[in-house]
Amino acid sequence: MPVASGLNGKREGDGRHMNEQPNLQQFVDHLSSYSDEGAQGGTAVPGPSNVVAGIGTVLEIAGSGSRVAMDAAQLNALVEHKDPSISMSGQVGSQVKMKVGNSWLIANVRTLRAGDDDKSVVANVDFLGEGQNASGGRMVNFRRGVTRYPIPGSTVFPVSTEDMRAIFAADDSPHIEIGTVYPTDDIRGALYVDPMLGKHFAVLGSTGTGKSTSVSLILHRISELSPEGHIVMIDPHGEYSAAFKDCGELFNVDNLNLPYWLMNFEEHCEVFLTTDGAERQRDADILGKCLLAARTKGKNLEQYGKVTVDSPIPYLLTDFSQILTAEMGKLDRAGDTTPYQRLKNKLDELRADPRYTFMFSGMLVSDSMAPFVAKLFRMPAHGKPISIVDVSGVPSEVTSVVVSVLARMVFDYAIWSRTEAQRPLLLVCEEAHRYVPKDEHATGQAVRKILERIAKEGRKYGVSLGLITQRPSDLAEGVLSQCGTIIAMRLNNDRDQACVRAAMPEGARGFLDAIPALRNRECIVCGEGVAIPIRVRFDDLEPEKRPASSDPSFAALWRETGGEEGIINRTIKRWRGHGR
Ligand SMILES: Nc1ncnc2c1ncn2[C@@H]1O[C@H](COP(=O)(O)OP(=O)(O)OP(=O)(O)O)[C@@H](O)[C@H]1O
Ligand SMILES: [Mg+2]
Repeated sequence: MPVASGLNGKREGDGRHMNEQPNLQQFVDHLSSYSDEGAQGGTAVPGPSNVVAGIGTVLEIAGSGSRVAMDAAQLNALVEHKDPSISMSGQVGSQVKMKVGNSWLIANVRTLRAGDDDKSVVANVDFLGEGQNASGGRMVNFRRGVTRYPIPGSTVFPVSTEDMRAIFAADDSPHIEIGTVYPTDDIRGALYVDPMLGKHFAVLGSTGTGKSTSVSLILHRISELSPEGHIVMIDPHGEYSAAFKDCGELFNVDNLNLPYWLMNFEEHCEVFLTTDGAERQRDADILGKCLLAARTKGKNLEQYGKVTVDSPIPYLLTDFSQILTAEMGKLDRAGDTTPYQRLKNKLDELRADPRYTFMFSGMLVSDSMAPFVAKLFRMPAHGKPISIVDVSGVPSEVTSVVVSVLARMVFDYAIWSRTEAQRPLLLVCEEAHRYVPKDEHATGQAVRKILERIAKEGRKYGVSLGLITQRPSDLAEGVLSQCGTIIAMRLNNDRDQACVRAAMPEGARGFLDAIPALRNRECIVCGEGVAIPIRVRFDDLEPEKRPASSDPSFAALWRETGGEEGIINRTIKRWRGHGR
């Protein structure tokens, strides 16, 4: 066992703080001098981290629960080590390393309990990956996954900041840096873009923990990396327009111009039908028949091939209305005209209501599908790879239909463009629990179906899904487990924590205990997007790139007065006129 050079070195203080986590700030200076040593490469004299003594031995290697025993006295002695990583040794969520042949194995501490004697603690560990042993005991070329396991009895060593640097050294594959790895203050935490987007990602956290800001940060970094990308962001609170003024195309009810005829049959039903049960079924049959007639009326059908109620082919609302009237006329005397009347009334209502102009305006009748797809999916992007669709002004009755149409456009585009040059798309959905709720009977089944489908099949067609929610336990079963990368911020609620636990890969369990204890802006990232699970503190995002979601300062704002009359009058004007 190598002899510790720094281990029994100076111990500051009177010992009262022995069991406390040392203040990171105290180590800043030590660490920066220390990291310089690490950066010298293979020729350097080995850094002090590599000669820290072992802290325990491997007890048992088993598929799901390998155990190591650590010496409690040794761990306590390390608490004040100048390297913050080493001083964390033995804590739940920290890493340890073992030598097998010429490689170092890195494992994560999942649980801790007292050993049979007073002197030891027994830890369950999960193996994360392995790196090669280079000169001076340094670890290089860290990779996820383990090829050879250690033999019980092997020595367990603490992991140093230098080892962490090797673990997190981002390789050449495209990545974005999002923040700093805990507990160090200079190792950069990176997300690998391809695996993260390839298998969907989720950002979870209680309200105010920094989800929206973190998502802005991630999307800004992605769009810097891929200025010709294709990202659609659904923004239910109108927060993100402020963040993407420069690199995004902003849509809201005033300029979205979403043609009603893009809706498929199911979405038409959600907008037009007002009844339940058997009545609804009958109304739906009539709607389907008349819709198909309207879609095909006066068209040269050869040009389209097979036309169904679902085909996104323009039709005139007046045609639809006339067909309803004509069908009603065909009924014999005993026939019930109520369903036709109901549909006609709904149609007239939609056409007359100014809140629906963004979708049901007569101006939208022309075949604008190509320009609509081009502007929404940023094809070409012209350096603005993100479209922000602010749906906060959409009447709440149809928000879910609007989101459904947009999500389905993304997915259908990907399916029908398979023979073309591939243009992968990313769909980001804030407040995802609203659209894919656990409750099977909630309204808005269309949006739920399409988002579930993207979660399940999107990868094959090059569609990536980013789900953001503060209530993971309200998300439909299975959606979270389809997300390959989980970015978990603090979650206060037990049920939410349990949900995240179930969705996280085995090796990340040790990090879970940290979730309720995370600070704002801190997160745990696990899954495909990172080499090993990491705890990261997000970078400070420049104010002009933040979403408009900052916490109001009551104390400061409640000191301001003046101009109230104007404020109230303008507010009422917008309120009444649904203007912005
Ligand atoms: N990386 C960051 N840089 C700067 N400020 C941040 C960062 N992360 C969070 N904040 C600040 O924290 C506050 C809350 O952040 P945010 O609105 O992103 O939380 P949220 O989790 O989206 O909340 P909600 O669930 O209510 O939408 C904001 O004032 C924001 O400016
Ligand atoms: Mg938010």
